[in-house]
Amino acid sequence: MKILVFENKEEASFYVAESLKEVIQRKLNSTEITVLGLATGSTPLETYKILNRFYDNGDISFKNVVTFNLDEYYPISPNSVNSYRHFMNTKLFFKTDIPLENTYIPSGDIEPNEIKEHCVKYDDLIAEHGGIEIQLLGIGLNGHIGFNEPKSQKNSLTRLVALSNTTRIAASDAFGGIDQVPEKAISMGIKSILRANKIILMAWGTHKAEIIKKLVDFEVTDEIPATFLKEHSDVTVILDKEAASALPQNAYTFVEQTINQ
Ligand code: F6R
Repeated sequence: MKILVFENKEEASFYVAESLKEVIQRKLNSTEITVLGLATGSTPLETYKILNRFYDNGDISFKNVVTFNLDEYYPISPNSVNSYRHFMNTKLFFKTDIPLENTYIPSGDIEPNEIKEHCVKYDDLIAEHGGIEIQLLGIGLNGHIGFNEPKSQKNSLTRLVALSNTTRIAASDAFGGIDQVPEKAISMGIKSILRANKIILMAWGTHKAEIIKKLVDFEVTDEIPATFLKEHSDVTVILDKEAASALPQNAYTFVEQTINQ
């Protein structure tokens, strides 16, 4: 795992958005598609804002981009303001030229008896598109990636999962109380995530410093699902100074990033 630390999340997100722009631009004048794996939550928000800006400036087009999101609450309507479909539509998709049919997110409103088939299809669809080129990840306070909570297995694929208390508490403000937070979600598995060519995990703020320290210090363990990333050959961990504050300085490279408007 390569660890890069930036002065703040704005500079860090600019670096990530630039990396995505480069991959997308490389294929723009061909018929090839770029397949991105996307995350929701507060962590990627700044990256999406910068991508919107690149699009507004005419620097980038999402015409040839296909996206797969990590997860969705279950059950939830795609029209709910708390659904990850709504999040992605409003934070990124509706603000760019990405064809909506190119944007895949697990469905939160299917019948219970359709879930298994839906999950198998989701992993198959990723494979049919040639796999994910760059997968963006945040990290939960308990070390989850996607909604792969502690005890998730390395060979897990997309599936229905139970959300941990930590995760439901973190979401309770948005839902207006923990009782309103769904108990389950559909999430890409650890194996689905590790199949990506390249993985970028981002974390900001002092509240993430402790889990980032554990991610770095611990051997691979299902207690901290993010440690499975250590078994992938191309993972970059992008941090702001606060999220890196529990790490020794020799654990990372500090990057001075200029933000070009
Ligand atoms: C979101 C996801 C989660 C979040 C994680 C961090 O699609 O899969 O793993 O990345 O819970 O959430 P934030 O970014 O809100 O701190």
